[in-house]
Amino acid sequence: MSALDPETLHPVPGQPSMAYLKPLIAGHAKIEAGEFTYIHSFDDPARFPEQVKYAFDFIEDKLVIGKFCSIAHGASFVLNGGNHFADRLSSYPFPVFGEWGEQDPGAWPNKGGIEIGHDVWIGWDATILPGVKIGHGAIIAAKAVVTSDVAPYTIVGGNPARPIKARLPEDSATRLLELAWWDWPVEHIRAASDALMKADIAALEQYAP
Ligand SMILES: CC(C)(COP(=O)(O)OP(=O)(O)OC[C@H]1O[C@@H](n2cnc3c(N)ncnc32)[C@H](O)[C@@H]1OP(=O)(O)O)[C@@H](O)C(=O)NCCC(=O)NCCS
Repeated sequence: MSALDPETLHPVPGQPSMAYLKPLIAGHAKIEAGEFTYIHSFDDPARFPEQVKYAFDFIEDKLVIGKFCSIAHGASFVLNGGNHFADRLSSYPFPVFGEWGEQDPGAWPNKGGIEIGHDVWIGWDATILPGVKIGHGAIIAAKAVVTSDVAPYTIVGGNPARPIKARLPEDSATRLLELAWWDWPVEHIRAASDALMKADIAALEQYAP
């Protein structure tokens, strides 16, 4: 068991509430997670799939999460299985009840999957709605309801979530996107971790492979 091994399920000794997501959801049809993304849960992290709502096999959508993301307790991700038509005479889903009528579920509104970049922090009880794309380095505030795309290195909050502020100066964010440190070999990231915990981008650049 090593925190440097992305297949370790519980990377913090004595803390079963923390789990790397990739090994936890291995083989799940609707969820993909990159290496070292972790979740924290006050319940049982193994129940993470329950936080991905309306995930039905007959609908083509997925939750795809990048590497090195931090996902707080209660964050939830809403896929397309719960969509009703909003532009029809009624939003009532008559075909769901069979005898009322027939309609191919694949023809129902599908805004696409949820895509979350690398190094994204998703706060407590945040909700991400279908089709949303969250850029690398973004932060989703506690209790946010994210209804539209989030630009890289932007902090959003509220319901509906709106930009609160930029996380970093624009030149730092641009350089980080170029450096893409999350794709470096693990030993480089390990060496760079102190620099990543500071705000000096020149210090980080020294560790680029
Ligand atoms: C988003 C967050 C990171 C911002 O922290 P910060 O950079 O210290 O920002 P501040 O506290 O200075 O707040 C900046 C502004 O955002 C607003 N804001 C902060 N958190 C917010 C939230 N959850 N929802 C809506 N607005 C929020 C503040 O009211 C403030 O607004 P103002 O400028 O109009 O006064 C933080 O508030 C947050 O939500 N963290 C998540 C904590 C969490 O869920 N942890 C779980 C364990 S991983």
